Amino acid sequence: MGNKTICCINKDFSIDNLKRLILDVYGDNTPLCYLHSFGCQQNATDGEKLKNLISKIGYKFTYSTENASLIILNTCAVREHAEDRVFGNIGRFKRLKEEKPNTIVCICGCMAQQKHIAERIKQNYRQVDLVFGTFAYNQFYEMLYEVLNTKKRIFNISEQESDINENLKQLRDSKIKASVPIMYGCNNFCTYCIVPYVRGRERSRAVEAVFDEVSGLVKDGYKEITLLGQNVNSYGYGFPKLLRKLNRIDGDFRIRFMSSHPKDATHELIDTILECDKVCKHLHLPMQSGCNRILKEMNRNYTVKEYAEIIDYARSKKPNFSFTSDIIVGFPGETYEEFCETKEAVKRFRFDNIYSFVYSKRSGTKAALMEDNISSKQKGLWLRELLLEHREVNVEWMSRFVGKTLRILVDKEGRTSDEHLQGRSDENIIVEFIGGKELIGSFVNVRINKAMNWALLGEIV
Ligand code: 5AD
Ligand code: SF4
Repeated sequence: MGNKTICCINKDFSIDNLKRLILDVYGDNTPLCYLHSFGCQQNATDGEKLKNLISKIGYKFTYSTENASLIILNTCAVREHAEDRVFGNIGRFKRLKEEKPNTIVCICGCMAQQKHIAERIKQNYRQVDLVFGTFAYNQFYEMLYEVLNTKKRIFNISEQESDINENLKQLRDSKIKASVPIMYGCNNFCTYCIVPYVRGRERSRAVEAVFDEVSGLVKDGYKEITLLGQNVNSYGYGFPKLLRKLNRIDGDFRIRFMSSHPKDATHELIDTILECDKVCKHLHLPMQSGCNRILKEMNRNYTVKEYAEIIDYARSKKPNFSFTSDIIVGFPGETYEEFCETKEAVKRFRFDNIYSFVYSKRSGTKAALMEDNISSKQKGLWLRELLLEHREVNVEWMSRFVGKTLRILVDKEGRTSDEHLQGRSDENIIVEFIGGKELIGSFVNVRINKAMNWALLGEIV
C-alpha cells in the first residue's frame, strides 16, 4: 500500500458507493468490525459514535480480531502505559494482515492525534491502514472509502478543531447507564497533561441538545446518566443551571457528572447538587497533589486550603457527602516529604475512592521538560504506600453507612457469592447483596450491614 498523508474527499464518494465497495471487497458475508476504546469515558463515547456509523453501513460487531474485516483501536494518550498496550496490539496484527490482506486496521483517538505517534506508525507498522485523530471522526466514511478504494494508507491528524456534530449519535453498549458528553476539549493546560494538545480548546454543547438527549434516554429506560467533560464546571452555558434543568425531567433516573476542576467548583455547585433530588451526592474532584508547591508546578490554580474549603462546605451541609479524587504520585521534582503531604491530605479528606497514578512523562507538555530524578521503581513504592494508607482509613469511613438504607442501581452479578448482586449507591460506592438476577437494571433499597475496603454488604429491604 502507498501513503497518503491528508485525506481528501474522493469525488466518487457517497454512502451508497461505500456500501457497494464493501460488498465488492467482502462479498455477501456480513463484514465484522472489532472496535476497542481505551481510556476515559469521553473516549468511550467517541467509540460509540463510530460504532453507530459503522453499523449503518452494514457491519456487525465481534470481540475477536481474527474474524474482523475492520479492526479499530480508539486510543488514549494520558499515560505511557496505555500507549504501550496499543503498540503491543498493533504488533500482533502483522500476521493477521499478512493472512487476510483485506482486513483494514485503523488507529484513532488521542494517541493517534500526536504527530510523533502517527509518524512512528507510518514508519514501523505497515500493517496499519488508517490513522486519524480526535477531530476526524466526522470524516470516517470518506476515509474508509478511500482506503478500500485506493488501497493507500491514510494519516489524517489535522489539528483543525472540529465543530460539534449533533448528528453523530452513539450506539450505546449499556441499556442501563448512558454517558452524555456536554463539552469537549480543555483550556487548563495542567503541566503534566496531554489532553489540551490532543483534544483542543473547550467547546460546549447547547443546553437544548443536552436536554433533548437526556430526555430521550430517560424515555428509553436509562436509569443513570453521566454528563461528561474534562471540566464540567466551565460548561459554557452554566453548569448548575444545566443540572437544575435536567433534574426537572420526569422519570426514575439519576444524574452523575465528571470531572470537576477544583478551581471552578463553587458553593453554588454544591448547593445545586444538594437541592436536586436526581443528582447524586457525590463529587469527583481531582486533587492531584496535597502539596502547594507541587500544585503550583502542575499549574492547578488552587491551594490545598482552597481545595479543603469545598469539601468542608459540602460536609457542613451534608456530613456524608462523598468525594473521590485523582492523585498523581512522583511529579518531576517531588520529594518524599511532599509526597507525604499528599498522603496526609488523602487521610484528612476521607475520599470514598482514589484513582492514583504514577506520573507519566508526556512529550510536548511543560512537565516533560522538568528535571525528574526519582526512579519509576521508587515512585511505584510511593504509590503502594498511598493506597495502603487510603485503604486503612477508608474502611472506617465507609462504616458511616452501616445501619443505613441506600438506594442502589443494580449493575450485575456480585463477587461475594453466586447469589449476590452488585450495584452502586448514590455515592458511587459498590454495594453487594443477595437478590434475583431480574433486578439487574433497576433500583432497590439495601440496608447496609458491613463495610469492607472495596464494597459495602447489605440486604434488600
Ligand atoms: N501522568 C500520570 N497521570 C496523569 N493524569 C493525567 N495526566 C497524567 C500523567 N501525565 C491523571 C490525572 C487525571 C487523570 C484522568 O489522569 O490524575 O486527573
Ligand atoms: Fe488535563 Fe488538567 Fe485539562 Fe484535566 S483539567 S484534562 S488534568 S489539563
